[in-house]
This record gives sequence, structure tokens and C-alpha cells, in this order.
Amino acid sequence: MTQKFKVLVTRKWPKKVEEKLQSDFDVTLNDNDIPLSESELVQAMQNFDALLPTVTDKISDNILSTENKLVKIVGNFGVGFNNIDIDSAKKNNIVVTNTPEVLTDCTADIAMLLMLGVARRGSEGEFHVRKKEWTGWRPTHMMGTKITGKTLGLIGMGRIAQAMAYKAHHGFKMRILFYDPYIKGEDLKNIEANACDSVDNLLSNSDFVSLHCPSTKETQGLINYDTLKKMKKSAYLINTARGDIVVESDLVKALKNQVIKGAGLDVYEKEPQVENELLKLKNVFLLPHLGSATEETREAMGMRVLENIDAYFKGKQPLDRVV
Ligand code: DGY
Repeated sequence: MTQKFKVLVTRKWPKKVEEKLQSDFDVTLNDNDIPLSESELVQAMQNFDALLPTVTDKISDNILSTENKLVKIVGNFGVGFNNIDIDSAKKNNIVVTNTPEVLTDCTADIAMLLMLGVARRGSEGEFHVRKKEWTGWRPTHMMGTKITGKTLGLIGMGRIAQAMAYKAHHGFKMRILFYDPYIKGEDLKNIEANACDSVDNLLSNSDFVSLHCPSTKETQGLINYDTLKKMKKSAYLINTARGDIVVESDLVKALKNQVIKGAGLDVYEKEPQVENELLKLKNVFLLPHLGSATEETREAMGMRVLENIDAYFKGKQPLDRVV
């Protein structure tokens, strides 16, 4: 019998993926779903061939530089990999993979939900009904903002932004603007969108601004009080990318001072903590990082990690290698 590679999964994964891991590898699962501490991750580096973390596990230089490590590949469950110190992975000759494509549509759907939710006052309305405050239909009751025909500005024009652009343009006749330093209008297929030459230009011309850039040194804090002031007073901010692209306390101030009209957020600066002041506002629609959270997508993400580590152990190039 050939020896199976030893892999450690840091959180609970969908059942079907865990079953496949159990049949293909010598796997240690995390049935109670409690995040591992840094010292447990350091130990794991010495005892397993592959580490399979997710976007909430901070895989630091300290962990990646563990002495006498066995781990050769880190298969991240998630498309974003800002939880991993990529420079350290390079320095330590550790392969890192992510899970693109399979979560594109579901994350774009959540961005659409946030846009509709905040513009049409979805959570306010729901609480109103649940709290039995509703006294009946009337012409001026809980009026929101129409999204059909408005302008959607996308910061970052990768796969998820393109999927959102397609849905917003074809489903809601929205005009699409985007800013992306690496993607040109001619690179886009089946999407009618106009490139902006600067973030400022996009901010001042959009009715909805949706964030789709990765969290990097350049993008962290990109949305702050000064940049929010460049948006229209009637505009909304949508974030399904990463929380630290927005200075949350500045966003609260801007929402309170009516600098912008509202915000729909799926990600936060210090997850799972959310600014207390944000929770008190009515003009926000808040979700707990659900972008990829469908059974279909989470299963596909897990299977994608499996394909990546399987390819690596067979001596092939993993499809989603980031370093
Ligand atoms: C990712 O994959 O990066 C997401 O944030 C999880 O849905």
C-alpha cells in the first residue's frame, strides 16, 4: 500500500470534501471548528506535508519559517490570500494555492444583494415587519433608491467585478464604470464598461461604488473620509472584497454626516468585530462575510484545494499556484 500524504485542515469543511480528503489523504480534520493557535500551526508545519488553512487563519512569517518543517504546500480555502505572508512563503520555498473562479458568481450575487438591500432598505424593512411596527401601505413609507439605470463604479475589475458588471448591466440596465490599473476596457469580454483614469473620477461619477480589489499595501485604507467625500451625496458604498480597504471609523462618520447615502458591507476591518457605531445606523445593510457561502460554492472551493494539492503531490503544477 502506498503511503498517503499527511494533510491538516484548519477549520470544518463541507462534508463531501472532508469525505474525499479522508479517502485520498491521511487527513486530520477540525471537527469542533475552533481556530488553531499560532503554536498549533507551528507544530502542524513540522508534522504534516500540506497545511490547508482558510482566509481567517493568519499564516505568518513565524509559522512559515518554522524549523524542521515538513509542510511543502499551503492550499488556502479562499480566493483571497492576504492571510498568508507571501514573501515568507517564497523565502521558505513553500507553494501557496488559492481557489479562484468557483466563487465568482456567488460573491457577485452577494454584492448585488448588498446593493439592492441597502438601496431598497431591505433589513430596515424586515425588522419593521418582525417587530410588528408596520401599520400598512402608504405612499411615502420607507422609500428607497431605484437601482435600475444607475451607474455602478467598480474598483478592481477581476472576475468577481466582471460578474457583477454583467448582472448589473444585463439585469438592471446599469451603466458600468471601472478602475483597475492592470485591466483595460479591451480585455473585457461580453461586458460593456468604461474605464476611468483614476479612482477619484470613478468615485465622483458613480451612484454605487463596489470594491473588488485585493487587500494590499496600496489598497488598505483606500476608502477613507477624504475619498468618501469625493462620492456623490446620494451614492452608496458596497464592499465584498476585504474590510481593511475601508477605514471603518471614517465610513461611520461619513454615514452619520450624510457624506454618502448608505453602505452595504460583507467584510469588516477587524472581523468578526464590527464597529459598534455601524450597528446603530439605519442606512447600512450588513452581512457576516457570506460572499461565497452557498453549499455549491463552498464544496467547489474545497474540491479545488484538493485538486491543487493532489497535482502538487503528483509532481505537477497546481492550477491555482500563487507562489
Ligand atoms: C475569499 O475566498 O477570499 C472570500 O473572502 C471567502 O469567501
